[in-house]
Amino acid sequence: MLVRYKKSCEKIAMGLLSFMPEERELKKLKETMNIYQVNPNWHLFLWKEGEAFVGLVGIEADEGHFTLQHISVNPSFHGEGIGRAMVEKIQQLMPNQKIKGTAVTEAFLEKCSEAKFALI
Ligand SMILES: CC(C)(COP(=O)(O)OP(=O)(O)OC[C@H]1O[C@@H](n2cnc3c(N)ncnc32)[C@H](O)[C@@H]1OP(=O)(O)O)[C@@H](O)C(=O)NCCC(=O)NCCS
Repeated sequence: MLVRYKKSCEKIAMGLLSFMPEERELKKLKETMNIYQVNPNWHLFLWKEGEAFVGLVGIEADEGHFTLQHISVNPSFHGEGIGRAMVEKIQQLMPNQKIKGTAVTEAFLEKCSEAKFALI
């Protein structure tokens, strides 16, 4: 289940975000979390399996499209379709919006979009 990030989940979110190689350093991690807190166009979500938060997805909304800025899944849950499910849910939340990847997220997005999504 996809849920909106809340400040009370900050440490969990930082832990999940740190699975992305470019977010491993604490300074960078804090800067990234700050962007999601101060920029109204940046939206962060967590994926809950039962009571556990096991995934994170962050997007930057723009006119007519949005960018998949961050995505990560707890390694214990890799390969179970959670990453793909998060992309699908985000796409449902942003109907009629095209989805765009970054240099980091593009390959995964393309993998997810093989069947269904309209990519920029
Ligand atoms: C990328 C990530 C979020 C995928 O999560 P996941 O829940 O394991 O993904 P899924 O189970 O939904 O996998 C869907 C498909 O994408 C593939 N895939 C996984 N990571 C991929 C990547 N980085 N690039 C391209 N394809 C990838 C899987 O092999 C799978 O393919 P299949 O359906 O042919 O078996 C996860 O591997 C992760 O957290 N990686 C570390 C964080 C990171 O580096 N994020 C940025 C890269 S997008």
